Amino acid sequence: MPATVIVGAQWGDEGKGKIVDLLAEHSDLVCRYQGGPNAGHTIIAAGETYKLHHIPSGILYPGTLCVLGAGCVIDPDVFILELDDLEARGVSTDAVRVSGNAHLVMPWHVALDKASERRLGSLQIGTTRRGIGPTYADKYGRIGIRAQDLLDEKILRQKIEIALAEKNVLLERVYGAERLELEDVLARSGNWATRLRPHLVDTSLLVDQALRRGARVLLEGAQGSLLDVDHGTYPFVTSSNPIAGGAATGVGIGPTRIDEVLGVAKAYVTRVGEGPFPTEIEGPDQARVRTLGSEFGTTTGRERRCGWLDLVALRFAARINGLTSLALTKLDVLSAFAELPVCTAYRLPGGLVTSEFPAHQSEFHHAEPVYETLPGWLEPLDGAADAGALPAHARRYVEFVEAELGVDVSLVGTGAQRESVLSRHGLAALPG
Ligand code: IMP
Repeated sequence: MPATVIVGAQWGDEGKGKIVDLLAEHSDLVCRYQGGPNAGHTIIAAGETYKLHHIPSGILYPGTLCVLGAGCVIDPDVFILELDDLEARGVSTDAVRVSGNAHLVMPWHVALDKASERRLGSLQIGTTRRGIGPTYADKYGRIGIRAQDLLDEKILRQKIEIALAEKNVLLERVYGAERLELEDVLARSGNWATRLRPHLVDTSLLVDQALRRGARVLLEGAQGSLLDVDHGTYPFVTSSNPIAGGAATGVGIGPTRIDEVLGVAKAYVTRVGEGPFPTEIEGPDQARVRTLGSEFGTTTGRERRCGWLDLVALRFAARINGLTSLALTKLDVLSAFAELPVCTAYRLPGGLVTSEFPAHQSEFHHAEPVYETLPGWLEPLDGAADAGALPAHARRYVEFVEAELGVDVSLVGTGAQRESVLSRHGLAALPG
């Protein structure tokens, strides 16, 4: 049985959680492969709202193992709160498995993320201030603390001591922030060790064994393709690889084990944080889309910037991920608009019109969207039981996206509930 990657095809917040939730019902394992508490997804099930940051949404299905792979970064305090919240509401967390190779977001990483953003002022990246960048920087600098370090008190003390010697100089002298005390951090880490220990396993081996015995495995990306540190809109990106290629390294399986790559994109676009955004809506429609789509961050509560659908960026995401199909979410949000601009090309400085995503940052920063305007449908979508029953103009919108991308749109999202994700080819055709 192959593994399926579910990947954000825009700047994050595409509604991946709901798609994973839908497919997880028929999966044995759901694995996160990168990112950390910067991610956030909200699941509404049986009238209860769950806000998760680390733990995949598969946790709501008894019998589904939920894996945090080596490519993830874990804030132990946030992770423990999530475990506690789920347990308090009667959801067992016994099925959570964490790679010992995953790096820990330590208190200094959070402090440095905040201090560095403050210092950058108007040049800030607009991070979630969850310590993500500093944690990955230390991972690659080989001075990070891994989950498995919690299992050996002596090693842990040594590593924290070494890290703090440097981080306190940075915090105090460079950023004028408060220093952290070794004994305070160690005192907190005792609880982290107790709570994480039962969940730590060799997750690479676990996933491999599951695939060998024919289990259905979902690999869930956090953030989105345009936030990828290598291929996204650098420096306004996160510090990991959300793209499908990151799934193999982040979980520790070979790329040949992945068969399906399902991209998730909104029927429009949102972005949080700074950075260029060619199709950002100007005028009152900005606030209309934000309100209709409830476009406020799950993790930070920040207002999301809203834009019309950008097919140049989506074509790029289809290419770098090798998308085999696409889920187009939140189509219902567009029901209020009589006309729907869709960006099919960019006009670059100098006048060149291109349908390919510019490889050079300056071209992208100055790219102007070339729109084709599609007719709206001006009626609610909640009555449609399947994608074939959508209003004609809504169907046309979906078909237009499909034709422009050359990628099958297999799912269409028309509302907040689980049932409002409509399959275009029947549920049996879905991966996972
Ligand atoms: P960081 O990941 O906190 O370092 O933030 C870097 C950039 O990625 C910022 O623009 C964030 O707003 C953005 N970002 C990080 N996580 C998410 C997410 O889950 N959804 C949307 N944007 C995100």
